[in-house]
Order: sequence, then C-alpha cells, then structure tokens
Amino acid sequence: MLVTGKELLDHANKHGYAVGAFNVNNMEIVQAIIEAAEETNSPVILQASQGGIKYAGVEYIAQLGKVAAEKAKVPVALHLDHGTDFQQIMLCIRHGFTSVMIDGSKYPLKENIDITKKVVEVAHAVGVSVEAELGKIGGTEDDITVDEREATFTDPDEAKLFVDETGVDSLAVAVGTAHGVYKGEPKIDFERIRTIKKLVGIPLVLHGSSGVPAEAIKKAVEAGINKINIDTDLRIAFTKAMKEFLRDNPDNIDPRKILNPAREAMKEVIIEKMHLFGSSGRA
Ligand code: 13P
Repeated sequence: MLVTGKELLDHANKHGYAVGAFNVNNMEIVQAIIEAAEETNSPVILQASQGGIKYAGVEYIAQLGKVAAEKAKVPVALHLDHGTDFQQIMLCIRHGFTSVMIDGSKYPLKENIDITKKVVEVAHAVGVSVEAELGKIGGTEDDITVDEREATFTDPDEAKLFVDETGVDSLAVAVGTAHGVYKGEPKIDFERIRTIKKLVGIPLVLHGSSGVPAEAIKKAVEAGINKINIDTDLRIAFTKAMKEFLRDNPDNIDPRKILNPAREAMKEVIIEKMHLFGSSGRA
C-alpha cells in the first residue's frame, strides 16, 4: 500500500531501525525493490532523483511507483530524492509522490530555511512528507556534484534551529558519507549523529550509503539514522549481472532475458540491506 514517508520514518524512529530508500529509474529496479521488501516483510521507500525523472518522465516514474505500491503487501512511500527546484517538487506532488526532498544545502542557512519552509507549507497542506538537508554531502548524485573540499559536516546547533524553524519531517545529515563509489573507507562521525538526534528528535537520513561497511551502517542506525539511501550499489549489481549475461550469451537479443538477471542481482543486494538496516519483519 502507498503511504507517506513520515508514516514509515516515525515508526522506524520509535522502534530504532532504518527504512531503505532505493533509487528507481525503470520498471526492473522498481520490481526488484518491491520483491525484496515483500520477501523480507519490510517497509520501503522508492525514490526518484531529478535525473531519474528526466530519464523516465515524471508520469512514468509516478505510475510505476504507485502501481507497485498499491499492489505491494508492504507499506511503500514514493519519494523525490534531492529536489532542488520548487516547480519540480510541486509537479511530483501533483503526480502522487507521498514524500519530497528539498535540498537547499548549497544555500547559506537563512536561504535554506526559507526555501525549506516554503516547501513544507505547501507539502504539509496536502499531506506530503518533507525531507531537507543541512550541511553538504560530498560526491555526485546524478546532476548534483559537491566537491570533496566543499563538503561540510552538519552543525548540531544549526540542525536544531533548522528543524524548529522549518517543521521538516526528516533531516539528511552530512556526517562523513558521500554519494557514489568510495576511494577509501568512509569515516562516519557517529558522535555527531547522536548529538544531532538528541537535539532534533526527528528521523535522520544517511545519504551516500552504498559501499559503507555493514558494521558502520549498524552503528549509524543505533546512533539515530532512520532512512538509508542506496543508489550506487544497485547500479553495480545491475550492470555486473547484465555484463556477465551478455558475455555468456553474446547472441541473445531478448531484452527480457538480458534484464532478468540484473533484476535478480539487485533484489539479492536489497534483501541483504533490509536485514542490515533492521527493517525486515517491520512491515
Ligand atoms: P549512493 O549512490 O552512494 O548509494 O547514494 C545514494 C543517495 O544518497 C541518494 O540520495
């Protein structure tokens, strides 16, 4: 069933686990996520970035997400990842997204508060949840790149002020992760997560979670993370399985035969993540 992001994340916050939010761009990815969620009895978030929406079209992405959610035996939220444009956020709400992210992290604090507040006002009026970002998360997520030197950790006191002023439902924090493939092992500031959580109380979101070792993910959840974003690990599973299939079956021209192993490989990765995040059995 289709639910709001807030409904899923408040439950996770209350019970100390995290919901996986996986980036979707096509039907096979959506199906892999839903099958994994049903097999593990997990709540789940399907999220589309602006790049994903540009690729598939907002109508297709919204319909895919809604059909999948309505058919699913587990609760599913449909979320816009890293929305930076007010018009686009409104378009997603109009197409039935139940959760949106306003990423104003490139602006100074005051502007970030202003734009986030504006989105919260409209989204909440129609029952849609809002995630915002404070601090700057490094790396590249589709069309947004933050240089390593520009990445800055979230300041706990600013986070408290930001949440009080904006009324957001969840907050993405910059605590040492980055979008994309890691060069070395990421060093997560768990103490910072704990401090922010104590001050704000609302669900916290970890971006750039692909490639983060299992132990670090567990510690981050214990510290107060309730939503974990995964994109790169699905891309890796998808392309690896597809390449292997084509290497072994170079004459196959059936897209269904080529895409099926990719869908299965993603599903395996997602099932593992759901156990790790503690969302299994929570639907
Ligand atoms: P990864 O690609 O590193 O998993 O990050 C995904 C993400 O944070 C989407 O917002």
